[in-house]
Amino acid sequence: MFRRSTQAVLGTASLVSVAYSQQVLDLGTVEWTLTSPNFSYISVPGKVPSQVHLDLQAAQVIGDPLYALNEFNLRWIPFSNWTYTSSPLDTLQKNASSTWLVFNGLDTFTSIDFCGQHVAATNNQFRQYYFDVSDILASCNSPGLSVNFGSAPIIANATRAIPGQETWPWGVQQLYEFPNREYIRKEQNDFGWDWGPAFAPAGIWKPAYIVQMPPQNVYVRNTLVDIYREGQHNFFPPDQSKDWVLNASVDYLGSLPSGAAVDYMISDADGSILQSGRLSNATTEDGMITGSTSVPEGAVELWWPVGYGQQQLYNLTLNVIDSWNTTVATVKKRIGFRTIFNNQTPVLQEQLDKGVAPGNNWHFEINGHEFYAKGSNFIPPDPFWPSVTESRLRVLFDSVIDGNQNMLRVWSSGAYSPDFMYDLADEMGILLWSEFEFGCALYPVNEEFLENAAHEVEYQVRRVNHHPSLAYWAGGNELENLELPTVNKTAPEEYPRYLAEYEKLFLDTIAPIVLGNTKSISYSPSSTTNGWLSLDFSKVQPITQRYKNLTEGSIYGNTDFYNYNSSQLGNFSRYPIGRFANEFGFHSMPSLQSWQQVVAPEDLHFNSSVIMLRDHHPPAGSLNASNFYNTSIGQGQMTMAAQEWYPVPNKTDSVANFSAWCHTTQIFQADFYKSQIEFYRRGSALPERQLGSLYWQLEDQWQAPTWAGIEYDGRWKVLHYVAKDIYSPVIISAYRNVTNNDFEIWVISDLWSSISASVNLTWYDWSGKQLNISTDAASNVTVGAINGTQVLSTNLDTLLQGQDTTNTLLRMDVSAQGSLPNSNVTKTFTHTNWFHPAPLSSANLADPGLELSRKDETFTVKATSGVAAFVWLDYPRGVVLSFDDNGFWLAAGEEKKVGYKVKSDSTDRRWRDEVTVRSLWNNTLAEGY
Ligand SMILES: *[C@@H]1O[C@H](CO)[C@@H](O)[C@H](O)[C@H]1NC(C)=O
Ligand SMILES: *[C@@H]1O[C@H](CO)[C@@H](O)[C@H](O)[C@H]1NC(C)=O
Ligand SMILES: *[C@@H]1O[C@H](CO)[C@@H](O)[C@H](O)[C@H]1NC(C)=O
Ligand SMILES: *[C@@H]1O[C@H](CO)[C@@H](O)[C@H](O)[C@H]1NC(C)=O
Ligand SMILES: *[C@@H]1O[C@H](CO)[C@@H](O)[C@H](O)[C@H]1NC(C)=O
Ligand SMILES: *[C@@H]1O[C@H](CO)[C@@H](O)[C@H](O)[C@H]1NC(C)=O
Repeated sequence: MFRRSTQAVLGTASLVSVAYSQQVLDLGTVEWTLTSPNFSYISVPGKVPSQVHLDLQAAQVIGDPLYALNEFNLRWIPFSNWTYTSSPLDTLQKNASSTWLVFNGLDTFTSIDFCGQHVAATNNQFRQYYFDVSDILASCNSPGLSVNFGSAPIIANATRAIPGQETWPWGVQQLYEFPNREYIRKEQNDFGWDWGPAFAPAGIWKPAYIVQMPPQNVYVRNTLVDIYREGQHNFFPPDQSKDWVLNASVDYLGSLPSGAAVDYMISDADGSILQSGRLSNATTEDGMITGSTSVPEGAVELWWPVGYGQQQLYNLTLNVIDSWNTTVATVKKRIGFRTIFNNQTPVLQEQLDKGVAPGNNWHFEINGHEFYAKGSNFIPPDPFWPSVTESRLRVLFDSVIDGNQNMLRVWSSGAYSPDFMYDLADEMGILLWSEFEFGCALYPVNEEFLENAAHEVEYQVRRVNHHPSLAYWAGGNELENLELPTVNKTAPEEYPRYLAEYEKLFLDTIAPIVLGNTKSISYSPSSTTNGWLSLDFSKVQPITQRYKNLTEGSIYGNTDFYNYNSSQLGNFSRYPIGRFANEFGFHSMPSLQSWQQVVAPEDLHFNSSVIMLRDHHPPAGSLNASNFYNTSIGQGQMTMAAQEWYPVPNKTDSVANFSAWCHTTQIFQADFYKSQIEFYRRGSALPERQLGSLYWQLEDQWQAPTWAGIEYDGRWKVLHYVAKDIYSPVIISAYRNVTNNDFEIWVISDLWSSISASVNLTWYDWSGKQLNISTDAASNVTVGAINGTQVLSTNLDTLLQGQDTTNTLLRMDVSAQGSLPNSNVTKTFTHTNWFHPAPLSSANLADPGLELSRKDETFTVKATSGVAAFVWLDYPRGVVLSFDDNGFWLAAGEEKKVGYKVKSDSTDRRWRDEVTVRSLWNNTLAEGY
């Protein structure tokens, strides 16, 4: 129940004996009661860290918040105040020199009392708060703590109503459910988003402590470690021949003994010490002690993202010592040596000579190498962060790795990632593009708001900077490409003022804090951006943004693309050409198995209120809990896409029909993303020199129609499998110009050395009969590093003259010899892809005669009588797993062995007998799934 951490006895024995040592009481180990002034009958056990909804659910005051329409039924919770009261804290020392309350996160508006006396009020979910309560404790007999949470929606409204408060023209601030999120520093999607519910939770959502210290003692509340190449600068490519600088800065509470210094030690996994000593040039100011050391180039192994080399990590121990060399505090951080650079510099002559279009770069470089970023956008994996455990994230990140992804964009407007998430990413080699929590809105810039945001930014930048997986900082989501143009359009005369406010927050306030704390990480004010125009380092804030200062024929920045007109599938002329695609997508339904977790059997059909109202795209735009108008737009987009492109299910059994429809929306989603990823990857070989594709979105935070590729419990949608396939290092893809039927086939590779590839094209009809269509495609090609080679350029009308296109299919195979980056082992890389000239909705599908068998841990699927499109191995509820491959095509007579990885199983392995297989052909059948 009581955890004592004695920080004062490490290191050399002290000559001075102190009467007591530092004591840290973890407030997660004491008893708490949750009550509400609005509901005198509620008094339930509370937890730290937790949130009100979770504690009410544990006490059975409410049911599962994610069930059915509970989102709407539970609105009374965020409209009320909630108080967490601890039992008397008898174990506190009365003779401590100082006593502090430390909260690593309070969500969000609190009034804190200690020993019955008011301590403070807080108003930022993302800050760490610490209060000296020594004086209060000195005159207190029965120490107890209470934290009273005010209603975030009510306070957001009240903040908006403050005279002089900024407002914006209608349409600039994207409104989901609760209004006025932009006035408060709370997770923005807590007020609703188009992929999630609006619970507006409250609670002590991060660990909290009471720290008691003797005199001349410190408690470390946060630590910055910045590792960079000598002379490195956030905006320019680092010189990889330089030594490393390790800069460390410890934020402490208490009083530092005079003559304090910091000793450091870098050790490896075996515990052997690589380097140790005292940090040079130590300075102390404002509760921080800072110093640095140099680590020679070559003395440490580099950290690489997955697929590029090892994830070498080291332990760094920092000992804060006094002038007798006694350790007064110890900090351990796991670190890695790498440079990660977001390159927005002007395109150089040598790049122009290679065919790169003029303009500016926009890509990432790891340890001095440009690479192709493959991944997706991460959203908060649960509406309630205290439910997000390390083991849950590990399961999710396993799927990221298995899905051939190396980068996640951690979307702003959720919450800053917990340390354990960066730890996992460090270990697994996943780069985390990180953002400050601002999005889809412009923000006030009154002094109080800016100061509040500045504290948040400083705390978060310092907290996570030591993680080698941290790749980038962006100010906020879609501000430059969405919010600013909307103001410019709706209120052009006020645009200069709003632009100046935007710059005041994201350039003048945030940029200097980022640049002042880290030399290793690049910063940009907005996720989607045309990048910087110029830099002037004589200014505290060096960045001038480019915005629309564009030159015809030049290419700048990254892209964001949504088009809910499903007829645009495969229309490359509509996809954006840029240097990097950081968002694109289309929504789909989750599987029947996910729906069954939260929807009663009678509601399992497309038009049930429960299914409809869980579709938040487009959002209700208000607290109206029955906006069927908007929700039918979102449902309509998915069903129209299914109707346009695929045979649609019309099954006798209504649940089977629902399931088949849900699945068909997933197939469209997968097709759409695949076509865009192929387009972006080919861009690595075109003048745009496109070097990244991060689709929207990795995973779900509840069971609903969304853009996710992974459902709430970890089940993969068709998308995650198809993305895994098309994110393979070497791919072969077809590109058809939908206007004139010009047709190209390319082999694309993101390996770092060139490959020799052999290509095979085979034409079939749906029954599997080979067709005699000959092309003059190259059969052996070389593909350069991170590049593509065209193997065929023709016109389909000419090529397929006289063919029944509804019964014509092309199978493309590539097999290449090459090696992974930083490896000299030669490997074979293969990829298979299919092209169908007619939409599958009008294709002359044949029964593929699928057969499924299992031997031990391997399933075998065979198409016995025709070509099978979108073969889908399905598994029951009660288990979550990923197959090695799924959603693939099979030629007639072809069989495929498929293994799997189980993530959780409550069926005692019985699920293995309930695996089924289907393909698109099953959409044409009245019976079965
Ligand atoms: C609710 O919380 C707000 C904000 O902390 C506070 O101003 C108000 O007095 C509280 N009301 C009650 C009934 O506790
Ligand atoms: C906040 O204001 C909106 C109108 O701007 C209103 O609909 C809503 O009920 C208010 N919410 C609260 C909690 O007062
Ligand atoms: C860091 O130290 C811990 C023990 O404190 C050890 O288990 C771990 O392997 C070390 N890791 C590295 C990367 O040095
Ligand atoms: C300490 O500061 C001096 C003078 O600014 C500088 O030359 C030296 O490189 C610094 N040492 C380290 C380890 O940063
Ligand atoms: C503390 O350690 C440093 C270097 O390890 C040494 O030079 C110094 O003499 C020590 N001071 C005391 C008081 O032992
Ligand atoms: C603002 O609108 C004007 C007029 O349409 C346009 O010329 C300008 O490029 C826009 N600026 C930005 C930054 O969007």
